[in-house]
Amino acid sequence: MDGNGRWATRRGLPRLAGHKAGAERVRDVVELTPSLGVEYLTLFAFSTENWMRSRGEVNGLMMLFKHYMKSEAATLVRNGVRVRFIGERSRLEPDIQRQMQGLEEQTSNNSKLHLTLALNYGGRDEITRAMKRIAAKVKTGEIMPDDITQDVVSAHLDTAGLPDPDLIIRTSGELRTSGFLPWQSAYAEYVFPETLWPDFVPGEYVDIINSFGTRERRFGAVAG
Ligand code: IPE
Ligand code: MG
Repeated sequence: MDGNGRWATRRGLPRLAGHKAGAERVRDVVELTPSLGVEYLTLFAFSTENWMRSRGEVNGLMMLFKHYMKSEAATLVRNGVRVRFIGERSRLEPDIQRQMQGLEEQTSNNSKLHLTLALNYGGRDEITRAMKRIAAKVKTGEIMPDDITQDVVSAHLDTAGLPDPDLIIRTSGELRTSGFLPWQSAYAEYVFPETLWPDFVPGEYVDIINSFGTRERRFGAVAG
């Protein structure tokens, strides 16, 4: 979800106003997704690199996450949304960590939409933490080096148990992936709309999902 800052700056508003407007689009997209036949949605909300932003912006974003989790919890529960978080949690405020855990628990029986929120997430960080967990198991003899398969690696990532993404949308015209699910996205399709995230209206989302349905995916094999 990129382009909140530019959206605000172009309107002469503080960057946080862009993040607030962006949060409205999150609400729309989460609500619309199940009706498009999409059962898994992952949103990149805050990266391990985003701490380098000004203290004011980081604090503003953290306030917004707290507010969003609080104000949306009941709706998410009611709409059958199961919420999970990926990313490194210990650097987040204890308050936020508690809210995250609470939301995961409150929605754990839902299955209409699997919503994964990436918060303090970085792909290299995730893989590094997975390697540490695997190494610890090798050390105790729980697994042998030769037993480390691709499935074993997947099972030690934050996304363990979740399917790999089919389609990744990055808004705002930037042609980068910025560490978003590097292992999991090996065969993902990408779309890079020019639209800034706060302008990403439902119609554009629907068009992207529909055109994804017409792409031929071969996963390295030849057309059948
Ligand atoms: C993305 O919008 C939102 C977050 C990182 C939370 P940006 O804040 O990166 O917007 P630009 O790239 O400055 O326009
Ligand atoms: Mg950006």
